[in-house]
Parts: sequence; structure tokens; C-alpha cells
Amino acid sequence: MAKQIDPVPRALAGGTAEPLDSVAMADVPGDLLPGPRILLGPGPSMADPRVLRAMGTPLLGQFDPEFTAVMNEVMELLRAVFQTDNERAFPVPGTGRAGLEAAMVSLLEPGDRVVVAECGRFGLLMIEIAERCGATAVPVHAEWGRMVEPEAVAKALEAGPTRMVAVVHGETSTGVLQPLDELARLAHAHDALLVTDAVVTLGGCEVATDRWGADVVVAGTQKCLSCPSGLAPITYNARAEAVLENRRTKIRSNYLDLVQLQRYWSPDRFNHHTAPTSMVFGLREALRACLVEGLETRFERHRLHGAALRAGLEVMGLRLFGSSPASGRLPFITPVLVPAGVDELRVRQRMVRDFGIEIGAAFGPLQGKIWRIGTMGYSARRQNILLGLAALEASLSAEGFSLPKGGGVAAAAAHYQKFGAGQDDAGNSLGARGPGQY
Ligand SMILES: Cc1ncc(COP(=O)(O)O)c(C=O)c1O
Repeated sequence: MAKQIDPVPRALAGGTAEPLDSVAMADVPGDLLPGPRILLGPGPSMADPRVLRAMGTPLLGQFDPEFTAVMNEVMELLRAVFQTDNERAFPVPGTGRAGLEAAMVSLLEPGDRVVVAECGRFGLLMIEIAERCGATAVPVHAEWGRMVEPEAVAKALEAGPTRMVAVVHGETSTGVLQPLDELARLAHAHDALLVTDAVVTLGGCEVATDRWGADVVVAGTQKCLSCPSGLAPITYNARAEAVLENRRTKIRSNYLDLVQLQRYWSPDRFNHHTAPTSMVFGLREALRACLVEGLETRFERHRLHGAALRAGLEVMGLRLFGSSPASGRLPFITPVLVPAGVDELRVRQRMVRDFGIEIGAAFGPLQGKIWRIGTMGYSARRQNILLGLAALEASLSAEGFSLPKGGGVAAAAAHYQKFGAGQDDAGNSLGARGPGQY
């Protein structure tokens, strides 16, 4: 006798009350049919449907000439999106932190000194990874919500010979955007490498690798690139390669060994791991989409939707977290202070349950105090911003927070009216003139 299916797997199909419930038979879970979601959290963003289609491409063997041609295209596309002429630009297998670990474990040797600019959770992650590599991490801390001052980094560099300055370009945990050019200049003046975490920024705002002088830049796929998570694009220059070549000790990871990975992502085609070919197809499409849209246009789109969201939040009486000037804030991660007396979790739960809209919670000292609203990649579009604001208004009202009815949506719509392009659809009858004309 087949055992009864547990109700939990059923929930994945939308819950028993949903008309589109998927059928669970005997002891087999139902079809994978999760409820539709609008992802307005700090990542993942909504995948671009073109990326999902590309990921459904039939598999190729990883040394098939058609696949190696795709690899070459991915490297070329990465150079364009990273804005670099570096020979090395390829994806590390794994999520963003795999790229960060690959950079650190491959470039650091036990006892090396690493100055880490830290003003949030991902700066702490860099400290933690550096220490696991046996390096001595020297944190340069700034209050969460502020960027790290270059003078403080300069002081740390003066205190001892340093292999690496590690810095998060976009601190997703607080919404801070850290300028990099001055830090690169300082690192180079002390013969150190500038290694930067651009997991949240690549594809959403300027990441000018060569112009800023960043030696190593690591990204992720699931934020502004709108691809599922699973690859960590990386680029590094000849200075970083020289450090790899002159190591005294063996790299302490096989999987994340950049020397082996770069030999795989080169005409050598060194047989390392089995390539996640579907992810590579997806990344190729995500990068292609960036260039088809145009990098500048894409950055402008991210600025527009973030600003429209913030215009709405302001009218709703919500305040933003952080004290950086506007130039030091990510346009597409908006940290919102939870109003006094409001239960932050219940608001997020309502938004998911009633509207299928996800916004993000926060980490560490900010937990329960802020929401993080992401407007990245394919999620960054007018309808999502307006729906997100309407859902937030309804969810806050249901929790007893009083705010002007419809104010947020109206303010965002006014922002689009003023700054958006292509909003005039007066000539589109949406079918309403059809039968009525007979
Ligand atoms: C700035 C930053 N760095 C690193 C990471 C870690 O990336 P992943 O979760 O893809 O491993 C994230 C993910 O949220 C991030 O936002």
C-alpha cells in the first residue's frame, strides 16, 4: 500500500487551496509548480527568460568544439561587461563566494597580510576567507551604512608590507557603494593587489576594471545579471597572474585553483572539473543581454527604477537606512528602516503570501531593523516597482501602520512620468475597441 504523501512537498505546488494545485500521486510529489513570484530581494533577482531558455539548450560535451567556441564567446563577453582587456576573464564554478575563495586561496600564502575594508556582512566574509587561507587579516572597519574611508586604508597599508587590499564594491547587506579607484591607487603604491567583490554590482552599475585599476574582480550571476546562481565570473590582470606564478607554496584547493581553472579556460583546455555547461549557456545569454541593452542604458535603467521606488517609499513615510552620500549608495539595493512598532517578518510574510512578492531581511546588527529591496536585472521594471509599493502599502496597513492610501504608487508613477521613457501608450486600445466597433 503506497504511503500517504506528506503535506509539505505538496506545499511546493502552491498549497491545496490554490486552483492551479499540482497533482501529487501516491508517494510521488506533484509537478514542480511553485507559485509565481516577483523577486525584489537582495538576490536572486528574477531570471531573464532568455537565460532560462538558453539553459534548456541540449548539452554538449565540454571539449566539443562547439562548446569550446561558446567558452571563447563567454570570455569575450565577460571582458566587455567587466570593461577590461585582461586575458583572464572566465567563470569560476560555484556561487559568488566560490569566486572570492578562488581569488584568495590562489593569491594568498600563509602569513600574508591582507587589509580588508569592512562595512558590512560581505566585508566580514572576506576577512573570514582570508583567515582560512592562513593570511593575517587587518580589518579597516567603517560603521555599517557608511563607506570605508581611503585614509583609513592608507593608514593600515603604512603599518606593514601587504599582499592584498580586499574590498566589497557593492555591500549588499547595507546598500553601500564603495568607490574603488582611490583604493586601487593606494594598493599599488604599496605593491599590493586590489581584490574586489563585485558580486552585486556587475551588470547593474559601472564596474570599470581597467580604468579603476582593480587587479582582481569577482562577480556573481544571480543579481544584476539575472541568471540563476551557480557561476562566479572573475577577471584578473597580469599583476595578479605574476603573484600566481611566483607562489612559494602549493595552492591549498584543487577545485578553486585559479592556475588550473585558467588553463581550462584557455587554448590549453586543461581537463579540470566537468563544466556546468547549462550554466555556461545561461551566463552567455545573460552577458549577451547586457550588451544588447547597452551597459550605459542598463545602468540608467537600474538608476531609474531604484529612484522610482525610493520616491514611493518617501511618500509612504518610510525612511532609508545608511548615511553615505548618494554617490556611495547602490542604486538597486534600497535599505528601508522598519517603522517602530511594525513586525518586519510579518510584513514580508504577508507580501509573499498575499502578493507573491519577496523583499529581503537583513543580517547581524541590522536584523529586524531594515528591509532590503532589490531592483536588479530583469526585476528592475516599472510594473514590479508599482506592484511592490502597492503590496508594501497593503501589508504595512494590515500591520497597523498608517500611511497615505495609494501615495507610494502615485509618487513612483509621477517619477516615471517625469524621468521614464516610452510610457505613452495612449494609442494602445488593448483590444477594447474590437467588438464594440461593429
Ligand atoms: C556583495 C556580495 N558578496 C558575496 C556574496 C556571496 O555570493 P553567493 O551567495 O553567490 O555565494 C553576495 C551574495 O549575496 C553578495 O551580495
